[in-house]
Amino acid sequence: MKRLTVPQIQRRKFEGRTENPLVMLTAYTARQAQLLDPHCDLLLVGDSLGQVIYGLPSTLSVTLDMMIAHGAAVVRGSYHSVVIVDMPFGTYEASPQQAFAAASRIMAETGCAGVKLEGGQAMAETIAFLTARGIPVMAHVGLTPQAVNALGGYGARGKSQQEHEKIVADGVAVANAGAFAIVVEGVLEPIAIALTKTVEVPTIGIGASAQCDGQVLVTEDMLGMFERVPRFVKRYETIAETISGAAVRYAEEVRARVFPGPEQTYQPK
Ligand code: KIV
Ligand code: NA
Repeated sequence: MKRLTVPQIQRRKFEGRTENPLVMLTAYTARQAQLLDPHCDLLLVGDSLGQVIYGLPSTLSVTLDMMIAHGAAVVRGSYHSVVIVDMPFGTYEASPQQAFAAASRIMAETGCAGVKLEGGQAMAETIAFLTARGIPVMAHVGLTPQAVNALGGYGARGKSQQEHEKIVADGVAVANAGAFAIVVEGVLEPIAIALTKTVEVPTIGIGASAQCDGQVLVTEDMLGMFERVPRFVKRYETIAETISGAAVRYAEEVRARVFPGPEQTYQPK
């Protein structure tokens, strides 16, 4: 199977988007990528790895080196999905030139297909700059977690008419600037509908209703790794219990000297 391409993803907007929504999940490691890759169109190396695997309080202290290390692992572990790597906070907002320096390192050192960055109208010039220089950009509007301090929390966005209009204008601006797809996070359904109808690139929703052209979730969230998850997450597994349960049984067997048994023990011939 040949790897999907960014133009193929973008064209899905017009090729039966209702029957064939885009499927995206996050991946941070090679083995996780191997397991998810055959079932997805896109794998996102999200800066959510800050909380999910590094135990950080937010995505703000995730570094370029962290994203590159995990991005390279996910590219090595996949052969079908388009791999997109998040640009971390502080590596792209200052200027298009700063963004190009960081994005070109991500592209060159991971082998990914494109980058994702947060922001709407304010990032349009940067998106156009990167796109014109051969770097596909996925945009991210609505609830943008790197702006948590400015937004005042992780609550759903677009509750006022003014905010609704701002988010739709953000989506239009990034699409016009050349973004090949837009993640729409944590917005009321009417915003997802308006944005998806207006822009000519796929919208990929997370907490943005079924009306987007695709969906994404943080894999650990949908696996049931965490006790508390946002309302928009559906848990398809109870992996936390599976892991704790295995640790309980292992600890019991070690303490009872049941493990290792004869099958796990080397003996002289
Ligand atoms: O970092 C991330 O995982 C993301 C997705 C939730 C869209 O940006
Ligand atoms: Na992210």
